[in-house]
Amino acid sequence: MTVALVYGSVRDGRLGIRLVRYLERKLAARGHEVFTVDPNIFQLPLIERRMMDYEVGTAPSAVEQVGDLFASADAFLFVTGEYNYSVPPALSNIVAHYIEQFHHKVAGLASYSYGPFAGVRAMEQLRSLLAGVGLVTTPRSLPVPAVHEVFDENGDTTREDVDSWTNDVLSDLEWYAGALTNARGNGQ
Ligand SMILES: Cc1cc2nc3c(=O)[nH]c(=O)nc-3n(C[C@H](O)[C@H](O)[C@H](O)COP(=O)(O)O)c2cc1C
Repeated sequence: MTVALVYGSVRDGRLGIRLVRYLERKLAARGHEVFTVDPNIFQLPLIERRMMDYEVGTAPSAVEQVGDLFASADAFLFVTGEYNYSVPPALSNIVAHYIEQFHHKVAGLASYSYGPFAGVRAMEQLRSLLAGVGLVTTPRSLPVPAVHEVFDENGDTTREDVDSWTNDVLSDLEWYAGALTNARGNGQ
């Protein structure tokens, strides 16, 4: 399947990119095509209008590009840090541009923090935000505390528990993506 990995930090020295690199490799190792929507690469404007509110073909080019990528995705995997107990603004901004591209699809959730709480407060807010754009979320998720200790700069880890939680999330993602792809294919 094709998975859109969505990350939302633009901070200098950002740490969550380590978890993103790790997840890219885990998805590829399970045979999936993966593309990462990183706000440092796709510089979406602050939301003024959703993509659907532009005349076809007239949205800013980054908005069109990400919209096309999202439309081609069978599943999403969101990677959120926690900023003031909430979702980083660049991540919320990415989501706000789209809606149709998410309809009847599934999202997995990974969260992280520098401290011990793994970003779980932001993750639960993200779950709600994603429900607002029509995504269903997997029951199991991946919370990573002390992300700078769990992953090195290349996104490698020796933590077997993290590897095992990741496999659980990806199994859920595959199951729901398969079921929902079939349902959409049947016109449901
Ligand atoms: C604006 C801001 C707010 C933060 N708020 C929280 C918070 O509420 N909870 C938390 O555990 N860490 C918080 N942190 C620390 C982050 O967990 C840490 O900086 C992490 O590396 C951010 O992800 P990033 O490096 O990918 O940007 C905050 C950091 C910033 C910059």
